[in-house]
Amino acid sequence: MRHALLSIALVSAAAVAIAGARPGAAQQEGPTPKSTWTTQTPKSQGEPRGYVQYQDYCAVCHGAGVGKPGTLALQQKYKGAEPALLEDRTDLTPQLIKTYVRNGISVMPFFRKTEISDADLDAIAAYLTRNNKRAAK
Ligand code: HEC
Repeated sequence: MRHALLSIALVSAAAVAIAGARPGAAQQEGPTPKSTWTTQTPKSQGEPRGYVQYQDYCAVCHGAGVGKPGTLALQQKYKGAEPALLEDRTDLTPQLIKTYVRNGISVMPFFRKTEISDADLDAIAAYLTRNNKRAAK
């Protein structure tokens, strides 16, 4: 009888040890857990420089799809003479992009350096001018 109780105690101790080991092992295999409050930004996967920053700050208004105020406004402005999507433009220059971003226009807000750093804006400008052969980079 005493022997049986001892084995039960040993078995449950082992079970606790195994259960305790599991969360650690799972953490190493799976992705790093993120807080619910962390903004999920797309991770770069070989896209051109500035793509990720553009998605973060601009695509919400200048992206493709329904109801994007930037895309809609540029559709109205150019009426097909230039693509409504900034990403498809071939005429943008870094200077023009930076002027619009730092000053804003119409419903487009201006972005301070504390919101979009100079380095991030450089990257966005490089991305949007990647198809402009004449833009000095
Ligand atoms: C809140 C929505 C919004 C956001 C965010 C936004 N824009 Fe805009 N943007 C607009 C609208 C609307 C216009 C068109 C204004 C007009 O001329 O009526 C515009 C115009 C522009 C233009 C002028 C294009 C042209 O040919 O006239 C550039 C360049 C531009 N945006 C770049 C950016 C970049 C780069 C970002 C990200 C850093 C950005 N915008 C973020 C709404 C936005």
